[in-house]
Amino acid sequence: MLKSKHLMLLLLCTFLVSFSAEAQKKTIEQRVDSVLKLMTLDEKVGQLNQYTSAWATGPVSPEGNKIQEIKEGRLGSLLNVKGFDKTRAMQEVAMQSRLKIPLLFGLDVIHGYKTTFPIPLAEAASWDLGAIEQGARIAAVEAAASGVHWTFAPMVDIARDPRWGRVMEGAGEDTYLGCLIAKARVKGFQGKGLGNTDAVMACAKHFAAYGAAIGGRDYNSVDMSDRTLWEVYLPPFKAAVDAGAATFMNSFNDLNGVPATGNAYLQRDILKGKWGFKGFVVSDWGSIGEMIQHGFVKDNYEAAQAAIKAGSDMDMESRSYIKNLAQLVKDGKISEALIDDAVKRILQKKFELGLFEDPYKFSNPDREKQALNNPEHRAIERDMARKSIVLLKNENNILPLSSGKKIALIGPLAKSKDDMLGFWSVAWPDNSDVISQFEGLEKRVGKGKLLYAKGCGISDSSKADFAEAIAVALKADIVILSMGEKRDMSGEAKSRSNIHIPGIQEELIKAICETGKPVVVLINAGRPLVFNWTADHAPAILYTWWLGSEAGNAIADVLFGDYNPAGKLPMTFPRSEGQVPIYYNYMNTGRPAADNGTFANYRSGYIDMVKSPKFPFGYGLSYTSFKYSDLKLSSSQMDSNGTIDVSFTLTNTGKYAGEEVAQLYLRDQVASVVRPVKELKDFQKLMLKPGESKIIHFTIDKQKLSFYNNKLEWVAEPGTFDLMIGSSSADIRLKDKFELQ
Ligand code: NOJ
Repeated sequence: MLKSKHLMLLLLCTFLVSFSAEAQKKTIEQRVDSVLKLMTLDEKVGQLNQYTSAWATGPVSPEGNKIQEIKEGRLGSLLNVKGFDKTRAMQEVAMQSRLKIPLLFGLDVIHGYKTTFPIPLAEAASWDLGAIEQGARIAAVEAAASGVHWTFAPMVDIARDPRWGRVMEGAGEDTYLGCLIAKARVKGFQGKGLGNTDAVMACAKHFAAYGAAIGGRDYNSVDMSDRTLWEVYLPPFKAAVDAGAATFMNSFNDLNGVPATGNAYLQRDILKGKWGFKGFVVSDWGSIGEMIQHGFVKDNYEAAQAAIKAGSDMDMESRSYIKNLAQLVKDGKISEALIDDAVKRILQKKFELGLFEDPYKFSNPDREKQALNNPEHRAIERDMARKSIVLLKNENNILPLSSGKKIALIGPLAKSKDDMLGFWSVAWPDNSDVISQFEGLEKRVGKGKLLYAKGCGISDSSKADFAEAIAVALKADIVILSMGEKRDMSGEAKSRSNIHIPGIQEELIKAICETGKPVVVLINAGRPLVFNWTADHAPAILYTWWLGSEAGNAIADVLFGDYNPAGKLPMTFPRSEGQVPIYYNYMNTGRPAADNGTFANYRSGYIDMVKSPKFPFGYGLSYTSFKYSDLKLSSSQMDSNGTIDVSFTLTNTGKYAGEEVAQLYLRDQVASVVRPVKELKDFQKLMLKPGESKIIHFTIDKQKLSFYNNKLEWVAEPGTFDLMIGSSSADIRLKDKFELQ
């Protein structure tokens, strides 16, 4: 009796909650309609217009008086405005417009706000979805408290070309991992939902296929098959829609000849049609106007027409909409309904955020003060930074460092703070909060006890300071070398044709190694770099990316073993630029070259270099070691409705407690279209004490076996599948096969 009463109550509550959510949605829709009815055509177009503030992240047009345009209702959103005072001041101007429609404030909150988190590629190396979500959550808490409504993140572009500077902004090369990280970031930014004062709108970008820019050159064209588009590049965007991303940004590139901004197939057919996306799409910076340079449209008038028809709702900085949309309606070239749809999508979000109730809701000085000075955020950042570090090499277990040794820290990044912030840092140029590597290490060894020399600058060609660095190294028991890229060597418009460690840094590494002192190299960068000599000769290497505010502390934690590194590479590291694009899930070809053979005798390889990468996708060491054993499949066959349980034992066989990311790869041996040599289909990250074993389970289902066939149908074809479980894509420890019937 009591039980059924409880059940009734539960059902009633569920009904009321879903009823009120439904009712709320309805009310918002009604309110959007009622606002729309009051708007003139010019005011509607105004909602689709977005300008930057004085602070620019792209080329700015000096035209017009923005304040006046806001008062006239000719602007729906501003980007690059932040802080309680500035957002409030701008919103006050919007409140002087006839309809008092609040402005949306957007910003590139890519990896943290005041507390700078590791660059997204570094975070991806953690393979820790909870931690990644939490990082985005904190960025949102801080940004929202500072008046920001909307972040232009996550970037979910799959990236297989490390020359492309924007690899730093994404989750790397793998679609499966990329989907999970896309979801985690959207959830983190949007928290418990729009309308909460600690949530910002996420923006999945750059739709679509921007990561495949030819030659790794930013803004470049993309030419790819529909199958690759659907199978490799689109899924993280779909994952972002599924996670509830409020907005999308289109991209600068053309895709197979049609600029993404004017691409109705992408925006109307796929995003708003097939996927049912209800949010709005913002153009990338000036990308509507840039369709003229692409040679896709004749002028801005045609650009506006092509973009609105294709489903771009908001014009970032090209002024094409504000100048032409109303005229296009008057000329009968586009229907007003097209504009209404875009306006409704934007107003809907302004309502959901609660801006119509209180336009200043997010500009709160007390909340800002508290959120931006929260020591808990720093602690979480430090942990995220440690999780992002990848141990590439550790010969003779020279790491972790034992105490009592005389340490020299040498290199151009050792004392750097700016570079720890990385590209796309909101905090930059204020680096006062950053813990440099020198500071982090000095705290550990004691003030005045850490030896230091710069050795050379990041891009230097002069060896003038080598002698001092060698002298310092000779005084030490162990040398830590801090090398890598400057913060603006990876990022937007930072493509590089040469991705070696810049300048003469590798020569400095050689010179220090020649002293005979044990050396640990820290590589700080926004992308996979090439450093073959170092990889072959330095006994220990940590890839430390750009780790953010707590970089120095996090690196010290790892060097001294307070944290056992567990990061795994989210991108393949090439031996040379000539191997690029390079990725683990390639097709086999009819004449595959052996991984280790340089002589490609009528084989698909190189005559001057092996085809294998320097460090493979999924690779990363630990201070401990792991054994994989006892692989069991619940069955060696399944039908398409069935599943197979895969289990194996993972044992920590070393001296330290540590985490391993156990990875499951599959290969469809024979299919109607050729399949990659392996594809990541699942993984688990788990902590084991020394000597401890745990049984890990993976479930194989139809979804994991499916792919797009030649008709772009998502199918699983009967046949044999290879199952591989390993510590990286190249370090497969357990193997079996099964049949799909
Ligand atoms: C251009 C970039 O491609 C995009 O990612 C960014 O959000 C906008 N500029 C705004 O800064």
